[in-house]
Amino acid sequence: MRVLVVGSGGREHALAWKISSSPMVEKIYCAPGNAGMEDLGECVNITPEDVKTLARFAVEKKIDLTVVGPEAPLVMGLVDEFQARGLAVFGPTAQAARMEGSKAFAKQLMLESGIPTAPAEVFDDLEAAMRCLRKKEPPYVIKADGLAAGKGVVVAQDDRQAYDALKACLVDRKFGASGDRVLVEDHLEGREASVLAFVDGEKVLPLQPAQDYKRVGDGDTGPNTGGMGSYSPVPFVGEGDFRRVVEEILFPAAKALAARGILYRGVLYAGLMMTSEGPKVLEFNVRFGDPETQALLPRLKTDIVEVMKAVVEGRLESIPKLEWREEPCVTVVLASAGYPGTYETGFPIRGLEEASQIEGVNIFHAGTKRDAKGDLVTSGGRVLNVSAIGPDFAAARKRAYDAVARIDFRNMYYRRDIAQGVV
Ligand code: AMP
Ligand code: GLY
Repeated sequence: MRVLVVGSGGREHALAWKISSSPMVEKIYCAPGNAGMEDLGECVNITPEDVKTLARFAVEKKIDLTVVGPEAPLVMGLVDEFQARGLAVFGPTAQAARMEGSKAFAKQLMLESGIPTAPAEVFDDLEAAMRCLRKKEPPYVIKADGLAAGKGVVVAQDDRQAYDALKACLVDRKFGASGDRVLVEDHLEGREASVLAFVDGEKVLPLQPAQDYKRVGDGDTGPNTGGMGSYSPVPFVGEGDFRRVVEEILFPAAKALAARGILYRGVLYAGLMMTSEGPKVLEFNVRFGDPETQALLPRLKTDIVEVMKAVVEGRLESIPKLEWREEPCVTVVLASAGYPGTYETGFPIRGLEEASQIEGVNIFHAGTKRDAKGDLVTSGGRVLNVSAIGPDFAAARKRAYDAVARIDFRNMYYRRDIAQGVV
């Protein structure tokens, strides 16, 4: 098979790595990919949002399966465009991708089908939103309806912060059309976890839980990022909790979509708060999580291409379960100092070979490229993901940080507390 992977981050490198281990795969293309993905396939300089050019490329290269990493092209209709040309593509259509593309749509679907989530109201008017807040106690949770590159959620501690967040969306249009509607939602307390599942209509095949670290600083301090680390599985999501996630959230979500005439095929990601009343949904995403994927796929024994093919062909029931390695996996993200704000790039990266020699270690690239001389240099905020599998969390964590200690680039920054204390 000839497989096209769309995207350029650590998630896409991990996907391409896992896909490349399938005996069915002869050739991988990455659009646009990164320096690490160059070792697995041919990188082509087409951006994920350039849906029409990607579709033409897939026709020309006779691609047998396209796998989409990021959400934006899904929400824009990449899958619809590919399907119209008879191309096999793994991911939801634009209509189905509203589960991530519109928080109002997802919230309404959850509330109508009894899926546990925080109650919320939708507003397009600042005054009305403020009136709603006055009936509530802080902290207030304010969310832009549409895609906002992970920056559309504010947990406001007082009226002033809430007003600023609402005004940024509704008046200053900080997120453009994505913030023309906002959700004001009740605040949930608990620990967060992610559960992803392969979904084919009403059929659901869950992956094991994963945990990501969204804040930039140790001890969950500082601004939100695209993710500074992850681990899998998640000991605090016990078997009973996991069953509830599957039965109270994932199956009902698939059913509710089907009942609306929406055929969902791809990965559905439930971002969860494990509350004292049980798991509740914070958000749905319509794709693999980043960096959860980098801690999940090293543990997955099942051939992911077989699963993706089954989803695309509407026969997910032919894969009764996923096989996992028992050992946990810990992923540490190496970033450019300054991220998620401004940062410098173009610095040479050293030590990857030595780092990858440590047992159980896989290094997934994100913001890396080859410079004019062919040397590996930094090219983004999140630069590398160091994943390590080990007999237990302490061992996996030690391997990951031992590998990190062998890697060096100017302004390298990482969290030192990923998976700390997890047993
Ligand atoms: P989301 O993009 O919806 O997952 O929101 C980003 C982050 O905001 C989540 O990971 C949570 O930490 C926080 N958050 C979102 N919704 C809520 C809520 N209802 N209660 C508490 N925290 C929330
Ligand atoms: N790790 C969060 C996300 O992928 O959205």
